Amino acid sequence: MNIGTTIIKSRRSVRAYTEVPIDEEIIKNALDCARLAPTAMNLQPWIFVVVQDTTRLREIAEMTDHGKFIADAQLCIAVFGEKDAKYYLEDCCAATQNIIIALQAYGVSSCWVAGDKKAYADDISELLQVPEKYTLVSLLPAGYPKEVTVPHKKILDDVVFYEEYSEKP
Ligand SMILES: Cc1cc2nc3c(=O)[nH]c(=O)nc-3n(C[C@H](O)[C@H](O)[C@H](O)COP(=O)(O)O)c2cc1C
Repeated sequence: MNIGTTIIKSRRSVRAYTEVPIDEEIIKNALDCARLAPTAMNLQPWIFVVVQDTTRLREIAEMTDHGKFIADAQLCIAVFGEKDAKYYLEDCCAATQNIIIALQAYGVSSCWVAGDKKAYADDISELLQVPEKYTLVSLLPAGYPKEVTVPHKKILDDVVFYEEYSEKP
């Protein structure tokens, strides 16, 4: 048993949350884990906007297509990348996953809601008054889980190759 892999493997995307508030220390620690994610050339081309205001959560939820459940989250962390940084997307995805795993370590659930490539990305930037040089990469609603669904996952043998690719039987 390894604590790190156990936390990673226990994570599920959760879209229904209880009304139990999340301790500020947990939020801060998750953001600190985001800050420490790897980035190309160590540019750290990101900002993180924490939304806890219920009206704002509802507004964000309404703007999305597949993120209506954001309205009932305790908070939502919006991850923004600097457009001019060549690898901002990869960098911000690494930060996004760090946040999700850090929250999971406290038993707090999340669900990665798409931001990059979405038509609503600019509207959310505007709502949160984020300067033009940044673009929305992801939205991370969070809360203690009310309902957990278990999706199908491909088995390891079907997706892993050693040394070189070969057709699987
Ligand atoms: C880039 C990305 C975008 C996603 N966007 C959404 C989304 O808009 N709405 C949603 O409900 N889930 C979204 N998800 C979550 C996936 O649906 C989820 O990860 C997938 O179904 C596997 O389930 P699991 O996370 O529990 O393993 C997104 C995940 C990723 C990585």
